[in-house]
Amino acid sequence: MNQNIGGSVRVDCSAKLNLFLEVLGKRDDGFHEVETLLAAVSWYDSLYFTNDTTGALRLQCHWANGLAARQQSSRGDLVGCLGRLPEPADNLVWRALRRLREVAGIEAGASIQLIKRIPAMAGLGGASSDTAAALLAANRGWQLNWPLERLSRLAAELGSDVPFFLTPRSCGSAMAVARGRGERIETLQGTPRLHVVIVKPPAGLSTPRVFAECRPAGQPVNLNRLLDGLRSAALTRIGDCLFNRLQTAASEITPWIARVRNAFQQLDCLGHCMSGSGSSYFGLFRNARQAARQAARLRSERLGYVVVTQTTTAPCQMTGIDRLRGSAA
Ligand code: C5P
Repeated sequence: MNQNIGGSVRVDCSAKLNLFLEVLGKRDDGFHEVETLLAAVSWYDSLYFTNDTTGALRLQCHWANGLAARQQSSRGDLVGCLGRLPEPADNLVWRALRRLREVAGIEAGASIQLIKRIPAMAGLGGASSDTAAALLAANRGWQLNWPLERLSRLAAELGSDVPFFLTPRSCGSAMAVARGRGERIETLQGTPRLHVVIVKPPAGLSTPRVFAECRPAGQPVNLNRLLDGLRSAALTRIGDCLFNRLQTAASEITPWIARVRNAFQQLDCLGHCMSGSGSSYFGLFRNARQAARQAARLRSERLGYVVVTQTTTAPCQMTGIDRLRGSAA
């Protein structure tokens, strides 16, 4: 740990896609037992954390430059696609820092600036990723030096998807199988880089609602074929094995899922599927060029916010602010 950095850090925290999501049953605690395969993609929010010696906690959250204008203008291509920013007091980042402070028994403060690029109510894990970033930044900024396992236990309390975003840089793309309610993580190594196009339609979806409408699997789909495909970097097989049990429920709530699925069906695409509890939908492509070409077709159909991206090696990447300015050791 670099003590020269002091209390100012930046964490770029990624979106995720669920390449596979099976719902195995409903649990007594109201959650659902799932088996899912998560992959981090190169689409980031940025969290700036600065220590505050007065003990105050401050959080400012806004859309990245350009996005707000594209969302607000009546001719903007993102109208309705980003979703709403939560009030600071409802932001999971805020709750995470208060809880961390409480459990660690310290009175430290922080000033946080959160620059959002990942849409909300999208099944992309934006809020969970921001929360993981806040925990990592505070662990460094407040010099708690908690090991990752301890941070992960707190992360799991805050949200089912949060522990995934704490997984360290991997060899290959950052992917993990998550079980339980999504908090029990088994990281995968040596997975290939995947080129994807993500569409976030104007309608967002509420995670509790989609889970409530979902009928768990009678006969669960087996994850092993996808795991074999990933191990052997067999793109066609990976495309064939994309699956999300929540997609039927989501399609009953909003017509956008079927609309976007139909558009992907017309494309030269290895496979496509909804991510998480929606409403984002993604397709897998053979390479970056093909992804860019097919994304242009999707954009012309005005189905929502279309992003071309790829899987990445780490969900969260932390940089010392001093190092960003070029003055740190
Ligand atoms: O864990 P998280 O706060 O993200 O979950 C939000 C909601 O989604 C839960 O309150 C629950 O209604 C639903 N959910 C579920 N089963 C899961 C994960 C989430 O039913 N495995």
